[in-house]
Amino acid sequence: MRLTRYFLPVLKETPADAQIASHRLMLRAGMIKQSSAGIYSWLPLGYKVLKRIEDIVHEEQQRAGHIPMLMPTLQGADLWKQSGRYDAYGPEMLRITDRNDREMLYGPTNEEMITDIVGTYVTSYKALPLTLYHIQWKFRDEMRPRFGVMRGREFLMKDGYNFDLTKEDALHAYNRHLVTYLRSYERMGLQAIPMRADSGPIGGDYTHEFLVLAETGESEVFYDSEITDLSFGAREIDYDDKAQCQAVLEEFTSRYARTDETHDEAVFAEIPEARRRVARGIEVGQIFYFGTEYSEKMGAFVQNEDGARVPLHMGSHGIGVSRLLGAIIEASHDDKGIIWPEGVTPFHAGIVNLRQGDAATDSACDGLYNALIAAGLEPLYDDRDERAGGKFATMDLIGLPWRITVGPRGLANGMVELTSRRTGESQEMSPEAAVQRLAHIYADR
Ligand SMILES: Nc1ncnc2c1ncn2[C@@H]1O[C@H](COP(=O)(O)OP(=O)(O)OP(=O)(O)O)[C@@H](O)[C@H]1O
Ligand SMILES: [Mg+2]
Repeated sequence: MRLTRYFLPVLKETPADAQIASHRLMLRAGMIKQSSAGIYSWLPLGYKVLKRIEDIVHEEQQRAGHIPMLMPTLQGADLWKQSGRYDAYGPEMLRITDRNDREMLYGPTNEEMITDIVGTYVTSYKALPLTLYHIQWKFRDEMRPRFGVMRGREFLMKDGYNFDLTKEDALHAYNRHLVTYLRSYERMGLQAIPMRADSGPIGGDYTHEFLVLAETGESEVFYDSEITDLSFGAREIDYDDKAQCQAVLEEFTSRYARTDETHDEAVFAEIPEARRRVARGIEVGQIFYFGTEYSEKMGAFVQNEDGARVPLHMGSHGIGVSRLLGAIIEASHDDKGIIWPEGVTPFHAGIVNLRQGDAATDSACDGLYNALIAAGLEPLYDDRDERAGGKFATMDLIGLPWRITVGPRGLANGMVELTSRRTGESQEMSPEAAVQRLAHIYADR
């Protein structure tokens, strides 16, 4: 993409109403525009990152054998009356009446609908195990939408639902989700810590929230500092291997890590004092096993091996896809702007032309641009007729991890400059070497 042909409405001033860095930076970098409270348009740059995050989520879900589909945003009220949640959900649910006076709602989540679908078509244990998911917009009429996309009213969520014959199988699905979530967040450059969470009115012991540590997080968290040393890394995993998935769960959840809702001072006090941490975190996901509650209410039963009719064991598992943009920026920015992790960056590298209009510099930039594309990368070329300082400021603000600077002085020696946004370090090299270096950096992403 060439900047002169792109749509990147960056703001010079800091928006006054944005309280936290990620919200300010997303507005300044022209990623989002508020449409009404808690509802945003995703401008091209923001949309690109949103898609990158979605892609990672899709890949990691499908790697584990989970099946993508798509359910509507608008739902009929009937299913929710059947589950008893139509009234229970309260004012957070946006209720709509159609022209025939039918009660509808903008879905805040999809347990009812997916259970109805599976209940309709799945009749035998032979179709199990089954995990279906979608990435779809949700609406919750939050009391206090704030912090930009972090607590929106309309937001994008991945929600997945497992259907299993036994509790044991459903807990394997739970563990599988834990593994996929660890992998997904790490690919996004994040450390998200699974913390024991409150299961709320549905009950059950099996729920973890994934929290990204950040001062601006809305949840208070308590944890053993040893937990931040853990990382999933590049290890191979067989998602059908129950023991392997269970071992990952144990590795990542055996140390103390809880949100304020489940925090227990007495248990926390047993950790050596030097390792006790009290901090704040952003919830970027939650996994949940809840048994047969919905399947019984919504009629999702199958015949088991003995021919008996039994309710399915279920769990639901969410990732806050749109909230993740805010969380990533909170975790990765400086006073100049965003610093995208390579895994989610909207463009792989920026090209800054220091003397636009100079034939040799322009042609070197074009050559680089084409070479990067040929190497499978997406460059953003700042080809505006603008001072170097302004170009650097834009690149720093929008946070591309790598910048190639091309100017007549370097070109005289056949050199361009490759700069890391994160460290600020620059290195002179030939254009070919710069392309090669970037291809290598992005090879496994
Ligand atoms: N209003 C919102 N705006 C953006 N993302 C949200 C919002 N509410 C929930 N999410 C994201 O969707 C994920 C799954 O939804 P879940 O039902 O667990 O949310 P929740 O526990 O009600 O969230 P919260 O406690 O933050 O209100 C959450 O972990 C979070 O990342
Ligand atoms: Mg939650």
